[in-house]
Amino acid sequence: MTAQLIDGNALAKQVRAEVAQRAAALTARGHRPGLAVILVGDDPASQVYVKHKVNDCETSGVRSVLEKYDAALPEAELLARIAALNADPTIHGILVQMPLPKHIDPQKVIEAISPLKDVDGFHVQSAGALMVGRPGFLPCTPYGCMKLIATTGIALRGSNAVVIGRSNTVGKPMAQLLLQANATVTICHSGTPDIGLFTRQADVVVAAVGKRNVLTADMVKPGAVVIDVGMNRKDDGKLAGDVDFDGVSKVAGWITPVPGGVGPMTRAMLLVNTLEAAERFAQG
Ligand code: GUN
Repeated sequence: MTAQLIDGNALAKQVRAEVAQRAAALTARGHRPGLAVILVGDDPASQVYVKHKVNDCETSGVRSVLEKYDAALPEAELLARIAALNADPTIHGILVQMPLPKHIDPQKVIEAISPLKDVDGFHVQSAGALMVGRPGFLPCTPYGCMKLIATTGIALRGSNAVVIGRSNTVGKPMAQLLLQANATVTICHSGTPDIGLFTRQADVVVAAVGKRNVLTADMVKPGAVVIDVGMNRKDDGKLAGDVDFDGVSKVAGWITPVPGGVGPMTRAMLLVNTLEAAERFAQG
């Protein structure tokens, strides 16, 4: 391995410590930051994610309220619950864990959350704000990826950046953030015949597809920064990213591991967004 490891756990710890300080200051002024987390159904992975998010809040001085509902919860009831949380002055952020059961329209649920409390950054207003460079909440995963890239010291201005994947939650906002940082950005996806053609020119590659080995050593420019958003389960039950870590780490300059790279930073940026929401609320 020649690449330097980008340690997401260490950076997330630092971010949480900063959040804890700001949360304490805000609490002292009578505005304890509050996050509502809604889980519908009993998807095992979602249960684990939600537990982590609630634990993170506890260690950072952010109040969390976990609401768990049966998978059969009618959509209208969920929307009514969100409306109540929108009006609750002790709640500054609302997160509805995805995926939702099939009978609930996720887009409708996301749009029901007040943009002022949209700490996931999934609301169409948040996406629009990012697109035109206005203040709004950034989706936690791409926000965390930008922080991870910043630790390498690479100058994004004038660099070539390739995002593999075009989801609304990661790929598209990631490309926007890199563009804002003055990188030349290419988005590759399932319709791109030869992804390597683009990644071989790239100073930064962000892989966010949800499929193993979409980026292999022969596709990477020596010294590049490689950010792996993937979270795939291997046959042995262990986690693996989208990047062939063993191969790519021999060519890249920097690389995030899975686990311990992007995941912890996604959770840390949720805390940052919640705190931001509470600070804005306190400012009135
Ligand atoms: N499910 C998996 N990741 C996320 C996330 O970041 N936010 C929400 N709301 N649901 C998710």
